[in-house]
Amino acid sequence: MQTDSSFTFVLFGGTGDLSMRKILPALYEAHRAGGMLADSGKIVAVARHVAGRADYLEWVNEHVKPHVSKNGLDETAWASFLDRIEFVKIDLGNPEDFTLLRDAVSGLPGIRVFYLATGPSLFVPICHALASVGLNENSRIVLEKPLGYDLKSSNAINDAVGEIFAEEQIYRIDHYLGKEPVQNLLALRFGNVLFEPLWRREWVESIQITIAEELGVEARGDFYDNTGALRDMVQNHLLQLLSIVAMEPPHSMDSDSVRDEKLRVLRALKPIDPRDIGKVAVRGQYHAGVIRGTAVPAYATEPGVKQDSTTETFVALKVEIENWRWAGVPFFLRTGKRLADRVAEIVVNFRAVPHSALGASALRGGANRLVIRLQPNETIRLYCLAKQPGEGMNLASVHLDLAFDRFFREGQMEAYQRLLLDVINGRLALFVRRDEQEAAWRWVEPILNEWAASNKPPKPYAAGTWGPAAASAMLAQHGTCWLEEEN
Ligand code: BG6
Repeated sequence: MQTDSSFTFVLFGGTGDLSMRKILPALYEAHRAGGMLADSGKIVAVARHVAGRADYLEWVNEHVKPHVSKNGLDETAWASFLDRIEFVKIDLGNPEDFTLLRDAVSGLPGIRVFYLATGPSLFVPICHALASVGLNENSRIVLEKPLGYDLKSSNAINDAVGEIFAEEQIYRIDHYLGKEPVQNLLALRFGNVLFEPLWRREWVESIQITIAEELGVEARGDFYDNTGALRDMVQNHLLQLLSIVAMEPPHSMDSDSVRDEKLRVLRALKPIDPRDIGKVAVRGQYHAGVIRGTAVPAYATEPGVKQDSTTETFVALKVEIENWRWAGVPFFLRTGKRLADRVAEIVVNFRAVPHSALGASALRGGANRLVIRLQPNETIRLYCLAKQPGEGMNLASVHLDLAFDRFFREGQMEAYQRLLLDVINGRLALFVRRDEQEAAWRWVEPILNEWAASNKPPKPYAAGTWGPAAASAMLAQHGTCWLEEEN
């Protein structure tokens, strides 16, 4: 991917966790690969507690370098990467400081990208301060999640940002959309004839989408305790994945064609009746347990978490889509912290054959199954029944395997790297449009409200397990189970 689009990438929250773990390492990788970033492109970091450029570079060396070393650090590329970095000390609470930023970027070339890797409460003040010094022209703004706390607060942010930046200038990031296998799902569905005829209620029995984490809340207890898994993972990542799985073929891959189709899915989600919540939603919270031989503490004892917290660290949902393609097909979504394994995957269970001359195993639903593994070990597997060698006709499950690293040895990109390049090059397709975000908030809100009003605490689960038993019982009611329960 050669580019000559010059840019000035302004990073607010320049010493934050996200800058350290994701954004600066992704920019470094793009720089090291060569040809992806224009030579004249600059990164301008903004932070309050750092004296100047030399100190900032010291911080980058100390904190960012360890995160990029995993692919083997190229010292020459690292040194030239640091040459791209400028620094401006700004107190974000002090709008006058933005004249310093204006002076720092005024001579720099290309499109300006403002990346707001800060808490959402700073989004609006930063936008106002940028506009007050005329920096909203010829620019793009990237907003990190969480964008708001509910529909009302997200609308308030979007309204205020929308007064300063046009929708085409706003890049709402959801890093799950940048993951390679999610892109591949689009290629698989819309680049082949094989799956599309089967991708509907007549042939699909159920779909599962899981994002399971082994990690707990790490150093983010305070943030997480006010957020919970529904806001942190379902409203954005899981519903975005669902909309990609379920969308109609777009007429082109331009940003609005793709986003229009995703929006249709989000608007077709069957509203949750608060009286049914116990049947279609499970919330859980982890207690102490053991993960891979290591004892881990209960959520309620994590730093920053209230001892009597009722925040959910696990959610499982049964979702339905009210349209002709998907009516009646359950989509089971699940996410949780401190689960038994780190895995993100989409499982499409096809129906059983209508009649089997080959015995009962062919009549089992889910014998044909497509498993799209997003992480780790990105693969797509198509499961089929085949005859076992030898006498008689005994069937066994086998799979066709698309292991990306075997077919494509080079060119794999981290989600953040792809998305940052998209921002710099003005490609909006993998960013969430305002109406999508509103539809997602609107759908999750009855669940949020019902849980907030309920006096029942989340169901406990031991760290290192797959969550509360109720999540399995919910699938059992539909005659199915989570993928790992089959093995
Ligand atoms: C973030 C959430 O959006 O996604 C985190 O805020 C979560 O809580 C993370 O850990 C998971 O992302 P990934 O790419 O590591 O699966």
